[in-house]
Amino acid sequence: MNIPYSRISLDGNEINYLREVLKSGWLTTSSKALEFEKQFAKFIGAQYTCVVNSCTSALHLAVEAIGIKKDDKVLVPSLTFTSSAEVLRYLGADPVFVDVEYETGLISPAILEKAIRSNPGAKAIILVHYGGQAAEMVNSYGNGIVDICKRNKIHLIEDAAHAFPTKFGDKFIGTFGDITCFSFYANKTITSGEGGMVATSNPTFCDRIKIMRLHGINHDVWDRFTHNHSKWEYDIIGPGYKYNMPDINAAIGLAQLELAEFYRLKRQKCAEFYFEKLDNIKGIDLPVCYGPLEYNSWHLFPIKITPEARVSRNEFIRIMADRGIGTSVHYKPLHRMYYYKNTYNLNPDDFPNTEKIWQGTVSLPIYPKLKKSELVYICKTIKDILT
Ligand SMILES: Cc1ncc(COP(=O)(O)O)c(C=O)c1O
Repeated sequence: MNIPYSRISLDGNEINYLREVLKSGWLTTSSKALEFEKQFAKFIGAQYTCVVNSCTSALHLAVEAIGIKKDDKVLVPSLTFTSSAEVLRYLGADPVFVDVEYETGLISPAILEKAIRSNPGAKAIILVHYGGQAAEMVNSYGNGIVDICKRNKIHLIEDAAHAFPTKFGDKFIGTFGDITCFSFYANKTITSGEGGMVATSNPTFCDRIKIMRLHGINHDVWDRFTHNHSKWEYDIIGPGYKYNMPDINAAIGLAQLELAEFYRLKRQKCAEFYFEKLDNIKGIDLPVCYGPLEYNSWHLFPIKITPEARVSRNEFIRIMADRGIGTSVHYKPLHRMYYYKNTYNLNPDDFPNTEKIWQGTVSLPIYPKLKKSELVYICKTIKDILT
C-alpha cells in the first residue's frame, strides 16, 4: 500500500474553464476571477467577497482594513499555521497567543472571555475554525464568540483556511464575523492551486480590501490593457499589495466550487468510517465534533495518541510511514516556534491544552479519492500498532 497524506481531486470543469482562459488571450485577473468571487459569495450567502492569491494575503488585507497598527494586540490561537499570526507582524502589531479546547482544538467562548479579561486592550481576535469545525459563534445564552466580540468591542477576523464549506447552525462560515478569510491552497477542501477569498458584510472593509489587493489603485483597472476604451487614468490612495488572483487560478477554483459539497460529503464519509472503526481503541482520542457531521468541512481528521498508548506519537508516525501511510501534524504550536517563542518569551505551561494536543496529535488521510480498501488498511494498521 502507498497511501499519501493528501491527493488532489480535479474531476469537474477545470480543463474546460482553463481552456477558456487560455483562448481568451488574457491570463491574469479578469472575468473568471470576478465570476469566482461572485459564485463563492452566492454559495456561502455573503454580502461581499474579494478574491485574492492566498489566505495569507486575505488575512493581511483583513487586519489592514480594520485598522490594526503598530503595537496593537490581537488574540490568536497558538494551535494554528504561522499565517494567522505573521500578518500582524507585517503591520508591527503583536499576536497574543491563546490556548484552545483539548477536545476540538477550537477557542471556546469561555476561553475567549478569559483571554479578553487578561488582555483588556486587545483590538481583535483572529479565530481559527480548526480542522473544518466551526467555533461556537452564537448560542441561546447570547454568549457565543460573535456576542462576546461585540460586547467587548473587539473585531472578529476568522481564519477559515480549513472551513469551507462549514456551517454553524444554518449559516455558512463567512457570514458571522467582521471579515472571514478562506484558503484554496493545493491541499485544501477546494483548491485553485494557490488562492484565497475574503468575505464580509461591511462595504467599507470590502472597498478597502479591493483597493489594497491591487497596489492601492483607486478603481478597478483589470481591463486597462485589453479594452481600448477602458479608463486608463487611476490614482494610488494607499501603499497597496500585489494580491490579485490570476484567471488561470480562478478557472480551477470556479470548477472546484461547483463540486464543493460533493467533495465535502466524500470527506465526511471517511470521517464516519474512522469514527466507527477507531472507537474504543486504548491510546487514541478521536476528534470531538459538537454539531452535525454535515456542518464540518472535514479538512482534517486529527487523532491524539495519548500517554496510555504503547507507542509515542513520533513512533506512531514512523510506523505508519513504514507501512505506506502518510500522515501529518497540525500543528507544532506557534508558542514553540523559534521566532514567536523568542520574540514574546513564551512558556509552554501557559498553553496546557495546546501542549496536550501537540504531544499526541496526528492527522490521518482524509480526502475524496481515499478508497474504502485504503480506509480499511489504515484502520487495521492503527489497531495493529496500538493493541
Ligand atoms: C489555519 C491556516 N491559516 C492560514 C493558512 C494560509 O493559507 P494560504 O496558503 O492560502 O496562504 C493556512 C494554510 O495552510 C492554514 O492552515
